[in-house]
Amino acid sequence: MSEATEQVIAGLEGVLACESSIAYIDGSIPELSFRGYDIHDIAQTLTFEQVTFLIWHDHIPSADELHTFSADLAGRRAIPKQITDVLSAMPSSGHPMAGLRTAVSMLGALDPRADDISPEDNLRKAQDLTAQMPTIVAAQARLQRGQEPITPDLSLSHAANYCYMLTGKRPDETTTRTFDTMLILYAEHETNASTFACRVVVGTESDFYSAVVAGIGAIKGPLHGGAIDEVMRMFLEIETPERTAGYVDQALAARRKLPGFGHRVYRAGDPRASQLRTMAEKLGVASGDDRWFAIATAAEQRMREAKGIIANVDYFAAPVLYHLGFPLNVFTNVVASARIVGWSAHMLEQYAHNRLIRPRARYVGHRGRKLGAN
Ligand SMILES: CC(C)(COP(=O)(O)OP(=O)(O)OC[C@H]1O[C@@H](n2cnc3c(N)ncnc32)[C@H](O)[C@@H]1OP(=O)(O)O)[C@@H](O)C(=O)NCCC(=O)NCCS
Repeated sequence: MSEATEQVIAGLEGVLACESSIAYIDGSIPELSFRGYDIHDIAQTLTFEQVTFLIWHDHIPSADELHTFSADLAGRRAIPKQITDVLSAMPSSGHPMAGLRTAVSMLGALDPRADDISPEDNLRKAQDLTAQMPTIVAAQARLQRGQEPITPDLSLSHAANYCYMLTGKRPDETTTRTFDTMLILYAEHETNASTFACRVVVGTESDFYSAVVAGIGAIKGPLHGGAIDEVMRMFLEIETPERTAGYVDQALAARRKLPGFGHRVYRAGDPRASQLRTMAEKLGVASGDDRWFAIATAAEQRMREAKGIIANVDYFAAPVLYHLGFPLNVFTNVVASARIVGWSAHMLEQYAHNRLIRPRARYVGHRGRKLGAN
């Protein structure tokens, strides 16, 4: 086939761009597994630390391995003063994802071994960033509200400490378990746009931080992780369950895409959404305010009837984070700070089996123009 007649696959839909042994997705069932373990089995029974170890090392850690790994991760939570200074210099009206992107870039600038792309040093950077991104997200959220950042509590688990740094309250067991499960559900998702962006940067043998900055840039978009902030804004705008159907109908009539609906790979249902749906319902009941869950289910039903479009991971995750008391505009940052686990695993895989990622474009512009011929 000549270059001119080869088919363009818009959005690379369905294209297999690499081999990977990290996550398996079958959108038709739907099925999602990490390293061969079904997401429904691991999300409720393992901790974020166990799943992170599993995703990076391809086995569930033994008790000894988990103890060492968790203590090591906790010991990396502190951020250098230069990062807090950079975050303090960010305008309070700025997008929190701009703060996270800038802080990670600054961490790279401060790391004397930033350009060491050996597997050992890349794993060290994965550990540092997984531990430090929550501290950055929480510090920025507090600084933006004129509050002092909270020093990480090393005695708490990853999820419990993250909640504590964001809300100022040491969470109870149910809150910790809920947030831990949410972080697991977001930790990895094959070659989604941000993970692919990380792999593209690694493909040039650039450094780990540069690749993570690209991932943050990609996940910020409203078609990807940025949808979670938009979902909660939509629920707040709808305000009451009674207004929901009208809101959805109006949006569809205006051919507006509703945040939290649709997925490139899952057409029959997002397995992560079913877990988050249950979590959102329970939190609504426990808090005595089931308004957000009622709005969510009403809009979900209307979308199913009108377009047959499914709710994705961000749809029920938004009310979950809202009920946990997290500031409204940091939801995407929380998603990015969980996805660092998957980004890291994919980057390590890409470095280990690298081939420059360089697709072609079918040229549709002018050719053969002559200067001066107008
Ligand atoms: C995720 C997303 C980008 C996937 O896009 P995609 O694979 O390119 O799917 P398409 O845009 O081709 O959608 C197919 C059809 O469903 C419609 N559709 C998809 N998502 C929709 C949404 N959220 N609201 C309304 N209609 C939607 C499209 O308009 C299109 O309809 P048409 O065939 O009548 O033109 C898209 O569903 C979306 O923008 N969702 C909202 C943002 C979001 O929640 N992102 C988080 C994803 S985890």
